[in-house]
Amino acid sequence: MKITVIGTGYVGLVSGTCLADVGNDVLCLDLDAEKIRLLQEGSIPIFEPGLEWMVKRNMAAGRLRFTTDIEEAVGHGLLQFIAVGTPPDQDGSADLDSVMAGARNVGRFMTEYKVVVNKSTVPVGTAEQVSAVIADELAQRQLTIDYSVVSNPEFLKEGAAVDDFMKPDRIVVGGQDARALDLMRELYAPFQRNHERLLIMDVKSAELTKYAANAMLATRISFMNDLANLSESLQADVELVRKGIGSDPRIGFDFLYPGVGYGGSCFPKDVQALLRTARAAGHELKVVQAAEEVNQAQKAVLTQKIVKRLGEDLSGMTIALWGLAFKPNTDDMREAPSRVLIADLLARGARVRAYDPAATREAQRIFAGETRIEFASMPMEALKGADVLAIVTEWKEFRAPNFAAIKSLLKTPVIFDGRNLYDPGVPRRAGLEYFSIGRR
Ligand SMILES: NC(=O)c1ccc[n+]([C@@H]2O[C@H](COP(=O)([O-])OP(=O)(O)OC[C@H]3O[C@@H](n4cnc5c(N)ncnc54)[C@H](O)[C@@H]3O)[C@@H](O)[C@H]2O)c1
Repeated sequence: MKITVIGTGYVGLVSGTCLADVGNDVLCLDLDAEKIRLLQEGSIPIFEPGLEWMVKRNMAAGRLRFTTDIEEAVGHGLLQFIAVGTPPDQDGSADLDSVMAGARNVGRFMTEYKVVVNKSTVPVGTAEQVSAVIADELAQRQLTIDYSVVSNPEFLKEGAAVDDFMKPDRIVVGGQDARALDLMRELYAPFQRNHERLLIMDVKSAELTKYAANAMLATRISFMNDLANLSESLQADVELVRKGIGSDPRIGFDFLYPGVGYGGSCFPKDVQALLRTARAAGHELKVVQAAEEVNQAQKAVLTQKIVKRLGEDLSGMTIALWGLAFKPNTDDMREAPSRVLIADLLARGARVRAYDPAATREAQRIFAGETRIEFASMPMEALKGADVLAIVTEWKEFRAPNFAAIKSLLKTPVIFDGRNLYDPGVPRRAGLEYFSIGRR
């Protein structure tokens, strides 16, 4: 099938590449000329395990191309995937400008039947708006050309995006036009040879499903963070509680890890957008609202622990930081808890020496000109000259460090662990003070 992907970011690049990998002819469009130039040269602008060789393989096979030419892109695909960003607006609702710009371009240049597939996370009612924008453009061109709009929210996880796309738990498609739905069935057939994973539903339910999924996952995290803080007050151990409840198959172990709060490009903005959608419809989603409030507070917890141990004024101190990305296996720092911690530490006069296996380049971009942050190229290098260590992202390489080396490098041998990576006895036996989340 001929496919155009509008927006070549985390979702667009992964989707386009995976769709090419099963034999489709994919053209990815982006307005960012530098990004497209990099891709055309075979460089990958994001860190996503397994993606680079797949992009190169499909480019070499002639199934995957990149362009900034809108007219060429609209002309190419029978299916036009919209995978542009939907960042939060000032009031928290989803900013649909890029989605509408992408849709408008389809209406402006299409000359034959197109299926416009909304892959971006968009509020209920967006498909109708997309449809109206295309109709408006066609009317201006005084043309009548058939098209369909379907909703196909994406559930991939950064860090495991290729695997998630190639082996999805479910593929949600919202639409009512039989011709478009048949094409979507055909498109996704290679991804569900093992068993049927396609869930066809009405457009609004499909749009809401994506927000419901993220809100549920965010709520689980906030629930555990709430319990973690209670565990500290009660002298209980939230990690034991986690195991105790997770073993119930109705609850399960996933997304029950206490920590420094959720971040990333999805949960924070999607939770807020869902709250806005609900409010506009006259509903208060009280559980989701609470999940959001708990998360805001949780991002400050590590700073509070540092301040409690070292004092309000951190001037003259250097905090070593392990982890910048909002989670492991990605370089994405959108809404990352590390950013809140760094801002708090700098505001209290501290300096930061940070190490992250993938997000350093992104952090250098974000903190450009900030002289109080240095970046190390190895975990232990970040500890040189530092007073204490704070851990914010649970990268695998932090799981079994040389505690004796940590102790000898730090001026004050203390670890503040925002991800509960260690059995508390282990760093303590190595002579380190150890503070974690929700444990004695
Ligand atoms: N990142 C994730 O893990 C994830 C997972 C599921 C769903 N989503 C959703 O998918 C959407 C995209 O997210 P992302 O993380 O890939 O965003 P991103 O910011 O990484 O990529 C978006 C890309 O779209 C491009 N763009 C913007 N307007 C354009 C236009 N009119 N024409 C062509 N290109 C345009 C931008 O230059 C950018 O490269 C969002 O709605 C997001 O909520 C993201």
